[in-house]
Amino acid sequence: MKTQAGNNKIKSTQIQTIHPAEIRKEFPILNTQVNGKPLIYFDNAATTQKPKVVIDSITNYYRNQNANIHRGLHELSDRATQQYEQARKKTADFIHAKEKAEINFLRGTTEAINLVASAWGNQFLQQGDEIMISQMEHHSNIVPWYRICKSKGCRLKIIPLNDVGELNMETFASLLNAKTKLVSVAYISNALGLINPIQKIIDIAHQAGALVMLDAAQAVQHTKIDVQSLDCDFLAFSGHKMYAPTGIGVLYAKRAILESMQPYQSGGEMIDKVGFDEVTYNELPYKFEAGTPNICGAIALGTAIDFIQDTGMDNIQRYEHELITYASDALKTIKGLRIYGENAKNAPVISFNIEGLHHYDIGSLLNQYGIAIRTGHHCTQPLMDFFGISGTCRASFAFYNTKEEIDRMIQALNHIIKMLTK
Ligand code: ALA
Repeated sequence: MKTQAGNNKIKSTQIQTIHPAEIRKEFPILNTQVNGKPLIYFDNAATTQKPKVVIDSITNYYRNQNANIHRGLHELSDRATQQYEQARKKTADFIHAKEKAEINFLRGTTEAINLVASAWGNQFLQQGDEIMISQMEHHSNIVPWYRICKSKGCRLKIIPLNDVGELNMETFASLLNAKTKLVSVAYISNALGLINPIQKIIDIAHQAGALVMLDAAQAVQHTKIDVQSLDCDFLAFSGHKMYAPTGIGVLYAKRAILESMQPYQSGGEMIDKVGFDEVTYNELPYKFEAGTPNICGAIALGTAIDFIQDTGMDNIQRYEHELITYASDALKTIKGLRIYGENAKNAPVISFNIEGLHHYDIGSLLNQYGIAIRTGHHCTQPLMDFFGISGTCRASFAFYNTKEEIDRMIQALNHIIKMLTK
């Protein structure tokens, strides 16, 4: 598979180890100075930076290709359509979907979950049915279910956490019953980096007759996903967390389920025939893509997928595991620092607080050192309630980050502690 990276092309066949210095050359923003210091970008769980190939793909699209898709007979429209559909095929292959018709291009994970809660939920949920989510979900995997449960008279059940913040799987199994229609959980927690036992969740939920939706927003950039082998029913993710632009994301669902669902939004493209007395709908996936989609975003997502594939997900995963292990060991040298939800297999996301200091102050002061982390509740207020805190400092890494950057964060944290506690 080829990217447009030209001479800087990175081939998974050529590298077994990530060479961050080489990777960093592909990300122009990493040369930026912040507050007079070289940027250290540790907010990758919020959004990742974009490689040159993705930026070039966006520029190239608007310079040379821009046209609406599936509509015109003219050459430009034809080219844009082909590229958009190629991106869909790349996305399908990336998560090993059976066919590209199961890939719906949307704005992002939030829109994908809203689509399922609204279109599937309105159609298939009955009063008294149950939806199950977990205590560690992002608000975008809570509020859509809360709302549909309210409007349909359904019950929202919560998988509790054990002492260290992992899903309590025994309780999960015991909460399932014939009324549970769907279980929707994060593949990887955005706030903690914990990787959930999703295969077990899917198997147990299916045995109870429930469908399973995975919020994979924090997973697609860190781990190989095979929706067929997982056998999940729905899976959602966002392009911007995997080196593509904002405003493009994906809902995967099994064909039979998508076929059974009514459309979510209405307008152009999603129709087959329109009359005032009867409207029929387009085939998949267009039934769920009303209006002009984010054509450029989808094409750039395809380029980001090429970039990841060329680097090699195994290489990325191995290197990111080194980073998170290094960061965790280094953070533990700081007195009074507590890490939340850590186990041996965390994705490269780490949440912590330092005794006596406010996460907001730490984040603001790290910014003075050019270091970008996220502070606050990370859109997971129920999870923060579980830990009895208002928020954490969250450092999240990508494969362009380095151990030297982590060292600089530790140094900065030590300075900050001295400054705030003297
Ligand atoms: N969901 C994103 C995060 O966790 C914004 O930061």
